[in-house]
Amino acid sequence: MRRRTLLGAGTAALGAGALTAAGWPALTRYIREGHPGTVLPSQTELPAPFRTPLPIPTVLEPTSTSATTDHYDVTQQHTDLEILPGLRTPAWTYNGTFPGPTIVSRSGRRTTVRHRNELDRPAVVHLHGGHTPAASDGYPTSLILPADGSYDAHRVHQDMSGGPHGSSMGHHPMDLTEGTRTYTYPFDQRAATLWYHDHRMSYTGAAVWKGLAGFHLVHDDEEEQLPLPRGDRDIPLMITDRSFAADGSFRYPALDPQLHTPGVTDTYMNGVMGDVILVNGAPWPVHRTQRLRHRLRLLNASNARPYTLQLDPQPPGGAAFTQIGSDGGLLATPRHHDTLDIAPGERFDVIIDFARYPPGTHVRLINRNTHGPAAQIMRFDIGSGSPHDDTTVPHRLSDIPRLDPGRATHTRDFHFRGSTAGWTINNTEYEPGRALARPRLGEVEIWRFTTNFHHPVHLHLNHFQVLTRNNRTIGAFDHGWKDTINLRPAEAVEIVTRFTHYPGTYMLHCHNLEHEDMAMMADFTTH
Ligand code: C2O
Ligand code: CU
Repeated sequence: MRRRTLLGAGTAALGAGALTAAGWPALTRYIREGHPGTVLPSQTELPAPFRTPLPIPTVLEPTSTSATTDHYDVTQQHTDLEILPGLRTPAWTYNGTFPGPTIVSRSGRRTTVRHRNELDRPAVVHLHGGHTPAASDGYPTSLILPADGSYDAHRVHQDMSGGPHGSSMGHHPMDLTEGTRTYTYPFDQRAATLWYHDHRMSYTGAAVWKGLAGFHLVHDDEEEQLPLPRGDRDIPLMITDRSFAADGSFRYPALDPQLHTPGVTDTYMNGVMGDVILVNGAPWPVHRTQRLRHRLRLLNASNARPYTLQLDPQPPGGAAFTQIGSDGGLLATPRHHDTLDIAPGERFDVIIDFARYPPGTHVRLINRNTHGPAAQIMRFDIGSGSPHDDTTVPHRLSDIPRLDPGRATHTRDFHFRGSTAGWTINNTEYEPGRALARPRLGEVEIWRFTTNFHHPVHLHLNHFQVLTRNNRTIGAFDHGWKDTINLRPAEAVEIVTRFTHYPGTYMLHCHNLEHEDMAMMADFTTH
């Protein structure tokens, strides 16, 4: 493996020059209209819902294990998938599937994942929700170049240039690895539902859309001692929306269909939404279940689409979702919801008790915030028996120490804005190597986020607790340890966090992937 660094001086201010030329004025219109994305219609007939059985991503076996560490291998490759019946969808995959294989780790044990890039362009892997040393966090210019040698530093720069993306390479040294790269995850963190996905600068939206996303679950003793549903009643559900061309290929409104120039066309600068809902990669699937409690690990891996999830019909008495966990693992106590708002990047661990329904009920999981095809997600077909259920949801799930905002040493403001200047944080477009904050490890900090549009704000390295929303008490979906928070237009939240263990450069960004790609990202450097 050869490794090089290179100074980006030759292309400094690439984006800064280009961005005023193209579609940014369109943003002001979107901000007025307030839609968190624009639907790209499919050009193929949409499949009938509830025909495909729900796929469960396979759990990856370690290549080797030692006393302290489990080693995994993943190959990023071009794969033809059959997502729509009878049609071929060329995808970018981890090990040939979308979602990629689920990796299951144990808190306190180290995991390494060696990624080999057999795609025809650079890749970056980020473990979302991981408490990860900077070198393995998936910095957007820490690239795994294709194994076939088709990319060199010059070509990397070519792919970053042009387009109204707003990001500038600045003078930051890039970190290029050819062919393979090993990511090390210490997992000095509690049980949680994490996910891994591509994070390449300016191309994350396109890469995730084409299939580069998978689950990474962390287990620990505390959670295993609880009498919660497990095994095939503990189901990860990756919810995405996609659009398809007539030949079955993914449709994505990139400025350059070959994806060698960043950016999407003006119409989709507020975010790309599809009209086909995939759960674990299958369109509107159906899952046969027994009348028993199930744990669903809900992940919104869509580029831009927020969902308001609801079961239809609702069980008698409502409160269909018993939330037991958030992005960062178990809540202190369960919370009951009729509907669940989930923004891109967020996870909710919920228990659904299908025994509350009459035998044989077909229960749809629907999205209340839209109409048309995207308003349905999947269906659970409940069996007719009355099996004994030995699981329960305890009233006490975990101890969550409150971070004391009174001990904060810094309060920092981050304004997430769209305007004729583009998608910005504190009026600046992303530039690798330019840190907007330098928090000291171990210190409590209050960070305040404000918006003028929908932005799911995601913080790397450590989870946080939400203190206030719009100067009032926090929202129904803000509880527990979070790494992504759903902000609507003209909202303000305060969060409290403490960065720990790892010095280095990390990111804060909008998880609407088109906003992220078009520069709504910032570095912060811990020390
Ligand atoms: Cu899920 Cu920095 O991203
Ligand atoms: Cu955003």
